[in-house]
Parts: sequence; structure tokens; C-alpha cells
Amino acid sequence: MKSVGILTGGGDAPGLNAVIRAIVRRSLPRGYRLVGIRRGWRGLLDRETVELDRAATTGILHRGGTILGTSRTNPYKSPDTARVLEANVDALGLDALVAIGGEDTLGVAAKLAASGRKVVGVPKTIDNDLSGTDTTFGFDTAVSIATEAIDRLHSTAESHDRVIVCEVMGRHAGWIALHSGMAGGADYILLPERPIDLDAVCAAIARRRAAGARFSIIVAAEGAALPEGEVTTDAATDAFGHVKLGGIGVRLAGEIERRTGFETRSVQLGHVQRGGTPTAFDRWLGTRYGLLAADMVHEGKFGMMAAYRGGAFEPVPLASAVAALKTVPPGLIDLASTLFA
Ligand code: F6P
Repeated sequence: MKSVGILTGGGDAPGLNAVIRAIVRRSLPRGYRLVGIRRGWRGLLDRETVELDRAATTGILHRGGTILGTSRTNPYKSPDTARVLEANVDALGLDALVAIGGEDTLGVAAKLAASGRKVVGVPKTIDNDLSGTDTTFGFDTAVSIATEAIDRLHSTAESHDRVIVCEVMGRHAGWIALHSGMAGGADYILLPERPIDLDAVCAAIARRRAAGARFSIIVAAEGAALPEGEVTTDAATDAFGHVKLGGIGVRLAGEIERRTGFETRSVQLGHVQRGGTPTAFDRWLGTRYGLLAADMVHEGKFGMMAAYRGGAFEPVPLASAVAALKTVPPGLIDLASTLFA
């Protein structure tokens, strides 16, 4: 009987359990043993595993988070942990490993594949910034939550004649801000891809007031930066070198109030965007990714990532998926800007 390991790494995303469930359901009848690795790459370093049978994966489709747990462990940070990682894949008798994660987790997966281990990747991130696939699961849920929040902010902003800045996630890519801002009718959208022009933001707010609108909603990605740099909650970096972002909303609210004289508040949606039940789309997308990942293992398509491109599900090389982040292209930012010109 062949053993297939499954792990979830990096920030959690709604839809992770759908992927796990689909892999198990597709693979069990083919005679595979499914081994859940606890807490991402940490669990592989610690050999912390759990049996994934049908009972263990029943009733999880609608649940947010990951039944396996996750971590931001980088086993390739030191040659010693890299050796332990590779040795443990062999020691646990894993004939194949499915790694479900974003740029960092899949970057590790690509290195592990390069060491000769049989690895398949599945693209996860609420930020939707992975290349090689049109959409990652988790993104639709995050955009839906952010859009609902923006809708709710409208009525309170309007009642109080206020400007409200809604800070959403998005470290290097502003896809959540762009999509939720468009869907929620934001009056200005700020992305990590382009430095914040405070004069332009304040001018847009002033134009609205002059036209009779007494409130404005500004959507800002956490990674959107003023010319002096990003706003962080903690300068320390994680194992992959990322700082903890957060606080641009508060910062902007202060600047906007000072410059325009309009009362301004801010809201940081934070992890609310990642928690809770996945949308139907993310359950479907996660399920399709899981089914394809199981087929890739069965057909020996290793060193590849399950991808969704142009409406079709197909494997793409892991290395190409992690080579560069998919950020919002300039043309699309310009197009969105016409909505609040
Ligand atoms: O990568 C996804 C993401 O949600 C980013 O948008 C955000 O910067 C980061 O994770 C926050 O992660 P955590 O607080 O869990 O470390």
C-alpha cells in the first residue's frame, strides 16, 4: 500500500478542508493510505502525523481553517533542518507528499521536489497572488467578507458624515482590495503595487463632498505604502523574511482627517477575512484542486502544482508557480482608478 502525506502550510485559508477531503475520497478507493502531517512543515520536522481516513474527513467541507493545523515553518532556513525534513519524508515511508500552501509553502515544496522527493502542490492563499493559476482558493471568501464589511461601513459612514478607511489583507498584491473595493463601491482603492498619493485621495474625497456626498469609503490593502514605507505592527520578520503588516488604515485616517478636516475612522478587518466558513466557490475550487492533486499522485506527475487556468484544471511545474508573485497589473489599476476619478 502506498502512503501519501498531506500538509497545509502558511496562513490558513477557507477551503483547505475541502482539498484534504477530496484527496482522501479520491485516493482511498485506489488503495492509498493517507497520512496527515500536523502543523505544516513543522509537523514533518517533528514527525507529527495523523491517519486520514473517511471518518477523519467527514463533516469538514463547510469548516474554515484546516483540520491539520498549520505553521510558517521554513525547513530550508538551515541545512540541518533541510536534512531532517528530507530524511523524515523517507523515514515516514511517504511515497508522495501533497503540500497545500502559498508562495512560501510551495517554495519549500519545490526545493523538496528538487531533492528527489515526490511532491505535488496545491495553490492556497486568500491574497490570490500565486502565478501559474488563475485563482487560489480562499480568495473568494476573503473578498466576500471584505465586501460585506464595506457594505456595512457605508450606512454608518453616511449616518455620521464620515470618511471610513477599511484596511484589508494583501501583503504584496492588492487583489482583495481591488475586488472588494470594486464590489463594495469604494471611493478610493489603495494597493501595495502603487505608492499612496495622499493628495489624490483627499482630492477625491473633496470632490465627493462638493458633489453632495457627505461620506466616503476608502479601501486600503495592508501592504499599501506611503512614500516613506509600509506600516508594520512588528519589525521582526518571520521564517520567510516577512514583516507583520498592519496599521496603514489608522495612519491614513489620521492623515485624511488632518488634511481634509472631515471626521475619519478606520477599520482593520485582519484575520476575520481568513476565518469561518468558505463560500460555495471556494469549497468547489478546493474540491477540484484536491481531486486533481490525487490524480497527479496516481499518475506520477510530481514536481507539479494543480492549477486552474482558463476554466480547465491542469498540472503546471511547481518551479514556475513560485518563480514570481502575481500582482495587480498597472493597466488594471488605471482602469479601476477611472471609477473614482
Ligand atoms: O499571506 C496571506 C496573509 O493573509 C497576508 O495577506 C497577511 O499579511 C498574512 O497572511 C498575515 O498572516 P499571519 O498574521 O497569520 O502571520
